[in-house]
Amino acid sequence: MAVKYYFYPLWLRFWHWLNAVLCILLILTGLSMQYSNPDFPFMRFDLAVSIHNITGILLTASYLIFLVGNMITGNGRYYHLNLRTISTELMKQFKYYTLGLFRGEKPPFPINEKRKFNPLQKISYAVVMYVFIPLLIITGWALLFPEITIHDVFGVSGLHLTDLLHLIIGFFVSVFLIVHIYFSTIGATPLSHFKAMFNGWHKTHD
Ligand code: HEM
Repeated sequence: MAVKYYFYPLWLRFWHWLNAVLCILLILTGLSMQYSNPDFPFMRFDLAVSIHNITGILLTASYLIFLVGNMITGNGRYYHLNLRTISTELMKQFKYYTLGLFRGEKPPFPINEKRKFNPLQKISYAVVMYVFIPLLIITGWALLFPEITIHDVFGVSGLHLTDLLHLIIGFFVSVFLIVHIYFSTIGATPLSHFKAMFNGWHKTHD
């Protein structure tokens, strides 16, 4: 029997869609600055810089909503990783996504009140939200105020290293976004996860 869980309260949906819009704007303006070409301007360079800076500041504020929200509402418990069991769980989930799913098997980690995410979702959300986004924010602020960066790291410019780290993590978050949208289509119906992120209710299979 299909069961419904209220997994996405209003604050979480508000944060998620704000965060999604900000990340997309950051990726578009970031790419536009990275590959700026006066002959084929995707966006005026100065405009891309301003939008990127303002959006980055807003992303910092929205990240605080996520951190505080996760702490005070208990949503953070879904992100806890058990380092002893995670690798076996990941293998099971990976096998399911590559074989079981196409054979019509049942998911190895069915969603319930205590388990909102399967192990692959859990590790990717935890790494993106607690490692990548904070690193992006810290390096972004350092690039906004270059005087706070370390000037010299073993003969290499600290600013260049910060910039490189910012680019690499930005690339990882962009890849995450594409994979995330693809996996979001694997639900009871291709649209059911998207609907859940709008109305708050997650519906299980059957
Ligand atoms: C157009 C862009 C996006 C779409 C369509 C989208 C879609 C979704 C959907 C349908 C869900 C609910 C299903 C699930 O639990 O997996 C979800 C959850 C989630 N998404 Fe996204 N997403 C987008 C962008 C992002 C971005 C940019 C990030 C982070 C950088 C992100 C992080 C998350 C997280 C952490 C959750 C779980 C939230 C929770 O329940 O605690 N999403 N997303």
